[in-house]
Amino acid sequence: EVRVDAAFNLIGRLPSRRRGAKCLVIGSHLDTVCNAGKYDGPLGVLLGLAVAERLRRHSLPFHLEVVGFSDEEGVRYHTTYLGSRAMLGLLGRRDLNLIEEKGIEKARRPRRELLAYLEAHIEQGPVLQQKQRPLGVVTAIAGQTRIRAAFTGRAGHAGTTPMTMRQDALCAAAEVILAAEKLGVVATVGQCVVHPGVSNVIPGRATFSLDVRDAKDAKRKAACAKLHRLAAAVARRRGLRLEWRAEQETPTAPMDAELTSVLRRVAGQAPLLPSGAGHDAAEMALACPAAMLFVRCKDGISHHPDESVRVADVAAVLDALTRAVLELAQGHA
Ligand code: GLV
Ligand code: MN
Ligand code: MN
Repeated sequence: EVRVDAAFNLIGRLPSRRRGAKCLVIGSHLDTVCNAGKYDGPLGVLLGLAVAERLRRHSLPFHLEVVGFSDEEGVRYHTTYLGSRAMLGLLGRRDLNLIEEKGIEKARRPRRELLAYLEAHIEQGPVLQQKQRPLGVVTAIAGQTRIRAAFTGRAGHAGTTPMTMRQDALCAAAEVILAAEKLGVVATVGQCVVHPGVSNVIPGRATFSLDVRDAKDAKRKAACAKLHRLAAAVARRRGLRLEWRAEQETPTAPMDAELTSVLRRVAGQAPLLPSGAGHDAAEMALACPAAMLFVRCKDGISHHPDESVRVADVAAVLDALTRAVLELAQGHA
């Protein structure tokens, strides 16, 4: 049974015959970043489908749902997990004002329907390859803050304005970007737009994104506050105006201990590792027990067209995921 909900999540259900059955959801996302690889997201959805295909003749005590979440990456609105947050009724007024597509909040479904959530994903890092292990089990998904910032100075002639008399917005942004690199947390400026963006004009305005992550929420927040203070000081010193807006803040999401131990058991005591990347499991964990499997990927490359996995590793994760579903079915028999 297939449907698309109001938030453009694609949902397939292998229905259980049991009355009042809840849903075991296997999910991942179908959207990608720009110029992405093939596996970040879609692999987890295909694995869910493959599990459903394998188990279609089993009589399961729960509905088995495969969800291809929409807009997990936050490419469009700079705010992640839109599909899963809509499904769980977690979109706030600010999200709804931002999103052009109207009515997406209708995707909300009762949390009591949800039994558990499983997600399989490429690791997007080098740890499993280094350990020579095909699979890993996720302990927690690192929290993240996404900030939008801008310096406004004054555009002017590149040839005639003395260096001591400029209000160069890009130079200010550059100071903050280099400071972010030394913050002691994982921090990335992935976008920087310069206005007017002309080679012989002093930049009058520079807007940039900032993505900050850490497993410790307090450390991430302190790092963001420190960088904000530094940016304000740069603006004062250079005579610029600073705008600084946190557009998203997601706390670190620990995975469910019991479900995680099931995944470790079915994955040959696969190593435990934290996830620096975000996943819909971080949101689903707010509604039901959630756990994640990682598949080794080549050289840890991701968010890049060179993403690559081995067929044998995908077979191993498919086996593990199938066994996990059967073990959960036994537990609910
Ligand atoms: C999603 O891929 C993220 O971690 O940014
Ligand atoms: Mn991604
Ligand atoms: Mn992903």
